Amino acid sequence: MDGNGRWATAKGLPRLQGHLQGVTAVRELIQACPSIGVDTITLFAFAIANWKRDTEEVDGLWALFQSFIDTDLALLVEKGVRVVVIGNRDGLPEAIKQSVQKVEAASRMNTTFLLQVALNYDGVDEVVRLIKHAIQHNASVEEISASYVATHLDTQAGNDPDVVVRTGMPASKNGMSVWRSSAFLPIQSAQSVCVSTEVLWPDFTIEHLAEIISFAHPEARLFGGQRSSETL
Ligand code: FPP
Repeated sequence: MDGNGRWATAKGLPRLQGHLQGVTAVRELIQACPSIGVDTITLFAFAIANWKRDTEEVDGLWALFQSFIDTDLALLVEKGVRVVVIGNRDGLPEAIKQSVQKVEAASRMNTTFLLQVALNYDGVDEVVRLIKHAIQHNASVEEISASYVATHLDTQAGNDPDVVVRTGMPASKNGMSVWRSSAFLPIQSAQSVCVSTEVLWPDFTIEHLAEIISFAHPEARLFGGQRSSETL
């Protein structure tokens, strides 16, 4: 969800106003996902690297997340949404940790929609935690498999993403476009179709998402298989 800061700066507003508008975009997007057949979404809200930002912005972001969890997520849970927070729990502020535990426990049996929120997340850190877990639990060499990895990643509640979107990226030039994953779901996105858009996160709507999914066309993936003459 890139571009909150630029959205605010372009309007002469403090950066936190951009994040606040980013929360509105999240709220509207989640509500509209079922209308385009999307049943799972994973939002990259706070990267471990984001702790490097000014204290004022970091504190402001965690205050926004706290209120989002306690109000928006609590309401979504009542509507049947399963909420899972992915990322490094040890580094979460104590009050956030408690609120997260509460919404996760209350929504464990929900199946209407899966919402995963990445807080204090970094995909390399996720892999390091998985390896430490395996060692601490004396996993045998035979036990370590693709399925062991999938069921021990933070995202074990859902499937791998079909499409990964990064907003706020520069427009393509001379047929080239730049793409940076910033350590978002590095293992889970191995077969995802990745799309970047110029649209800044606060301006991102369900119409943008629908257009991206239709452009990405994830159902056409062959996963390394051979293209048949009909699909040439
Ligand atoms: C990037 O914008 C955005 C973030 C650091 C994440 C914060 C996201 C939100 C507040 C959206 C709401 C999220 C939830 C879960 C309710 P940036 O500051 O990097 O933008 P810039 O590149 O334009 O400076």
